[in-house]
Amino acid sequence: FPVENIRNFSIVAHVDHGKSTLADRLLELTGTIDKTKNNKQVLDKLQVERERGITVKAQTASLFYNCEGKQYLLNLIDTPGHVDFSYEVSRSLSACQGVLLVVDANEGIQAQTVANFFLAFEAQLSVIPVINKIDLKNADPERVENQIEKVFDIPSDECIKISAKLGTNVESVLQAVIERIPPPKVHRKNPLRALVFDSTFDQYRGVIANVALFDGVVSKGDKIVSAHTQKTYEVNEVGVLNPNEQPTHKLYAGQVGYLIAGMKNVIEAQIGDTLYLHKQPVEPLPGFKSAKPMVFAGMYPVDQSEYNNLKSAIEKLTLNDSSVTVHRDSSLALGAGWRLGFLGLLHMEVFNQRLEQEYNASVILTTPTVPYKAVLSSSKLIKARRAVQKNMIFIDQNRVMLKYLFPLNEIVVDFYDSLKSLSSGYASFDYEDAGYQTAELVKMDILLNGNTVEELVTVVHKDKAHSIGKAICERLKDSLPRQLFEIAIQAAIGSKIIARETLPIFKNIFQYGGDITRKMKLLKRQAEGKKKLRKIGNVEVPKDAFIKVLKTR
Ligand code: GTP
Repeated sequence: FPVENIRNFSIVAHVDHGKSTLADRLLELTGTIDKTKNNKQVLDKLQVERERGITVKAQTASLFYNCEGKQYLLNLIDTPGHVDFSYEVSRSLSACQGVLLVVDANEGIQAQTVANFFLAFEAQLSVIPVINKIDLKNADPERVENQIEKVFDIPSDECIKISAKLGTNVESVLQAVIERIPPPKVHRKNPLRALVFDSTFDQYRGVIANVALFDGVVSKGDKIVSAHTQKTYEVNEVGVLNPNEQPTHKLYAGQVGYLIAGMKNVIEAQIGDTLYLHKQPVEPLPGFKSAKPMVFAGMYPVDQSEYNNLKSAIEKLTLNDSSVTVHRDSSLALGAGWRLGFLGLLHMEVFNQRLEQEYNASVILTTPTVPYKAVLSSSKLIKARRAVQKNMIFIDQNRVMLKYLFPLNEIVVDFYDSLKSLSSGYASFDYEDAGYQTAELVKMDILLNGNTVEELVTVVHKDKAHSIGKAICERLKDSLPRQLFEIAIQAAIGSKIIARETLPIFKNIFQYGGDITRKMKLLKRQAEGKKKLRKIGNVEVPKDAFIKVLKTR
């Protein structure tokens, strides 16, 4: 295929603005998939994606399109639709020369529209604004055109107005792809240089790496090297994605496709890695970063007898997702488990949901925490503020874009929900990592009758310690069974008590009187319950109480 007839592009959009629907229409228009079949959202494959209507794992497709007597190869490189995966988005975009920026004609520019635009802009891609859902009653495409002109400095006449649902004007999107996006700048005569922009694991064939070829050619039987791991592999299969894998003899620079080379784990084909031919090393493509987990949570089987099943389910899932980090962990209260690191909250929820849906696992997930760096000096004396406003831009009379610097731990737990409910669903939110900042953090202990409960030690911001400590004490009071003496439940920073609840004495069941069999039953149940108890000082704490305090939901 001549390079000048190739276009590599991506569709980016705020959640629900119609990215997948537009992709489906483009696949139908080019005959890649059959219109008559029920192929709704072919590119979204996972069950959780269908349920949540979001793209987690990107899917890619090569489309053939005839225009004015010439045949074009249009590689549609799908990107994940959430900020947690912004690194993956940036790698997918680096395989493209242009993007379709889809904006809902009713909702207008949203947080992820802005984030995606800047990712594309930084990668110096051609941006084609597509205003979607013009069929909606409340659609106001002119308003959205003005927003796009104001915020992105793209002339309003460059916007294409479509209804992806009805198929209205979708053909002109393909025209624009051909006219406004340049062909890739590649060198087929140079030695192979291929970017890995996604990878999946297949039980039978091993790792399937999605690649974009910047230079050279790759064929079955070639020996290739990963620039990141320096491991050498023999290529077993190459091919294109239509959108299912279709083997070919070779892949040439400018093409996008897949490659199978006996890699056993997706960690061997990390997103952003460069592949080259054995003994023909090349300068790796820029921008590679190892996945960096931002949110950590403990994961435990509900029942310890499920430990091995859960272990194998986690292993299988991580075979497909190299961005999850797994470390063995154990908790006196919850038993043996793991400490998992995720790219963000959605990533964590999706992982958890996949474990439950695809592997039938039932797990306890503890409240997520974020990484801190501790410096042992007096620099904590520096006054830290929690959210600092960085700028404010009016998108139009009705919308304003605010930029803040936030500590990550302030947004990992229910920030998004609060924002949505405060704004009656109108506000949208996106974030990027701004690095470590100094903060006044304290270690908070939870005490039962003066003894520290190791499982509940946390790091919190000094100003939040009181409210968090109080909430934990209240939750413990509600979940601890009463005992034969009073229990003081306290939150403390060092030797200073900052919150306290008191659990009153349990009245001995024999004081109730009544029939003896009922008493015996109660005693028996108490004895069974005690097996699962842990003693902290003289206080007996059942496993359930820990679960109630530690669990996210
Ligand atoms: P993510 O994968 O989460 O990024 O979502 P998406 O951008 O792929 O959105 P999707 O294509 O799933 O569409 C979201 C919703 O909007 C679906 O219910 C679609 O049926 C609907 N939708 C998409 N395009 C149109 C359109 O042109 N008109 C109308 N009325 N609805 C549309």
